[in-house]
Amino acid sequence: MLQALKSDNSPFTEQQLQRLRDGMTGINAVQAAWLSGYLAGQALAQPSPADTPANGPAAASQSMPRAAVLYASQTGNGETIARQLQSALQAGNVAVNLASVADYSAKRLKNLDWAVFVISTHGEGDPPDDAVSFFSALQRQKEGALAGLNYAILALGDSSYAEFCAAGQQLESHLERLGASAFSARVDCDIDYEQPAEEWSERISKRLSEELKPADMAAKPPLAPTLSIVSREGATPWTRQNPYAAEVLQVQRITGRGSDKDVRHIELSLEDSGIQYQPGDALAVWAPNDPALIDAVLQKAGLDGSENVRIKDRQLSLAKALGERLELTRLALPQLDKLLASAPELATRLRLADADTAAKQAFIQRHQVIDLLQEGHGFNDAQSFADWLRPVTPRSYSIASSQAWAEDEVHLTVVLEQHMVDTSPRLGLASDYLTGRVAEGDRVKVFLEPNPRFRLPDDGSTPLIFIGAGTGVAPYRAFLQELEERGDSPNTWLFFGNPHFQTDFLYQQDWLRYRREGLLNHITVAFSRDQAEKIYLQHRVREQADRLFEWLESGAVIYLCGSHAMGRAVEDELQAVIAAKRPGPASDYWSELVQTKRIRRDLY
Ligand SMILES: Cc1cc2nc3c(=O)[nH]c(=O)nc-3n(C[C@H](O)[C@H](O)[C@H](O)COP(=O)(O)OP(=O)(O)OC[C@H]3O[C@@H](n4cnc5c(N)ncnc54)[C@H](O)[C@@H]3O)c2cc1C
Ligand SMILES: Cc1cc2nc3c(=O)[nH]c(=O)nc-3n(C[C@H](O)[C@H](O)[C@H](O)COP(=O)(O)O)c2cc1C
Repeated sequence: MLQALKSDNSPFTEQQLQRLRDGMTGINAVQAAWLSGYLAGQALAQPSPADTPANGPAAASQSMPRAAVLYASQTGNGETIARQLQSALQAGNVAVNLASVADYSAKRLKNLDWAVFVISTHGEGDPPDDAVSFFSALQRQKEGALAGLNYAILALGDSSYAEFCAAGQQLESHLERLGASAFSARVDCDIDYEQPAEEWSERISKRLSEELKPADMAAKPPLAPTLSIVSREGATPWTRQNPYAAEVLQVQRITGRGSDKDVRHIELSLEDSGIQYQPGDALAVWAPNDPALIDAVLQKAGLDGSENVRIKDRQLSLAKALGERLELTRLALPQLDKLLASAPELATRLRLADADTAAKQAFIQRHQVIDLLQEGHGFNDAQSFADWLRPVTPRSYSIASSQAWAEDEVHLTVVLEQHMVDTSPRLGLASDYLTGRVAEGDRVKVFLEPNPRFRLPDDGSTPLIFIGAGTGVAPYRAFLQELEERGDSPNTWLFFGNPHFQTDFLYQQDWLRYRREGLLNHITVAFSRDQAEKIYLQHRVREQADRLFEWLESGAVIYLCGSHAMGRAVEDELQAVIAAKRPGPASDYWSELVQTKRIRRDLY
């Protein structure tokens, strides 16, 4: 129903529209009618719904405290925390705005007394994609511009990344430079963020309740509801905490014999789940650890697995905890440091005794828990071993099908993550599970990760350039299926890169069919190792500079999917193309492309 709305005839930004569409997924006509009446009633009850109480006429009242909960969230964790905090405050009759920084002008901060931020870190220490403009706007503000603002920051991150919670730190340094004062110390959360986030929310809630006394709010009209009535993951009950058990329908290797890569096309059934996905979304998978790895780890740790341990509020055997709850394949710096501090001989043996952070990070990228355990010198105490391990996290996979085409199936394209440590293979948790440990008929725990930043444009005639290396091509299969189902036939151009034509041309038959049928107008490939010199996608971008620039000038949207390294190299080359073709600084044209969402990235 909101599908029909276009940003040019509505008061919403494209991003807001996308959120509305996401939120409305699965809402039936009766619910929609009720919702529309409810929103209309709320709108009448207040002078300026969009800005109340921060900027609207109500804010003109000198005594009205002005507060907002602002979030920058890519995969929804931070958004959920922010929504819960706002709901808790509202339940206590404390009025605060709730907004994504993507929809909130940094200039409006000066109208606030209290700003509470929940912000995650993505990319390689970057803010979420849709927070980049907010950050740039903060950077442009003059020193002292936010002198009256009291702020608090909850930063979300993952200490297995080199730049832990970097976006939260960046935000704090911007706010400090602008003269704002922290009313509560910044909290940096790791992957087990639930408890620290809850404690932080309670502290913030208490403080704001004291500061923004309900008495002050007596004259306040009720706040407009936010879309928190619909969970971010869509209208189904399937979430990170409550995943859907999807049946495996097919696992098919799609790289040829002799390829260095084991890539599988995986089909799962969403039959009775009610999950509605859109091309560009990802599916997150909870994978159990490999039983053979668990045995090897237990043996090296000097434990037998039957010991009882407590993980959060649950008592269970160590073997079971290793199966489902604890991470064995990814390490994090604080975890490594903790072990090295208690085992100096291990530090010496691993040549990490005097290593700097960069050397330790490099070590982490190549090693797993088992590489840190020494036969005969393991952990004697099961609980301390469990405490040292990190909770396991779900892994995300770009969806490679359009639901309009695949109906109750969802398709993924997964490459097995593998490397050797001495003579032993080390496999990635989820990619090994999906490519090698599940069989047809098994059930895999999944939940949807919507990605409104990586969707097809509403206008079915916009030219589309799809650039992807390796499994980065997966969402383009979904996009083309969707275009086919919609009956749209914009100009389309696929850039695909992988090592060898013979073995690694993923979904070759699909692309060739689309090419034959005219849905795909051009295919440009870079098979890096089929000739003496390496040829990558950025080289093809350079070769195609003239046509690429013509497409850009005709309004094309460029999609980039795959590794960060590929994304960076291709973006550099695209900027070089622009610089060569246009007078004036390439950065202006580029910023415009980013701001108008004509560059859409899904890099991992
Ligand atoms: C939005 C999104 C879409 C994605 N789409 C796809 C897709 O379509 N297809 C696909 O195959 N993958 C995709 N990925 C990547 C995927 O989520 C997994 O990261 C990948 O499959 C590896 O996970 P794993 O559990 O197999 O390996 P892990 O167990 O996570 O890691 C295995 C090994 O990798 C090394 N390593 C690499 N990075 C780190 C790190 N930060 N910390 C510690 N160790 C590290 C270690 O040596 C480790 O032992 C996507 C990721 C995102 C965020
Ligand atoms: C592709 C990707 C890159 C990430 N990069 C970082 C990083 O550089 N530093 C960090 O601390 N956390 C990083 N994280 C972890 C997220 O910040 C963490 O999962 C957080 O809980 C996500 O919150 P959100 O759902 O609100 O976006 C990354 C996560 C993903 C999926």
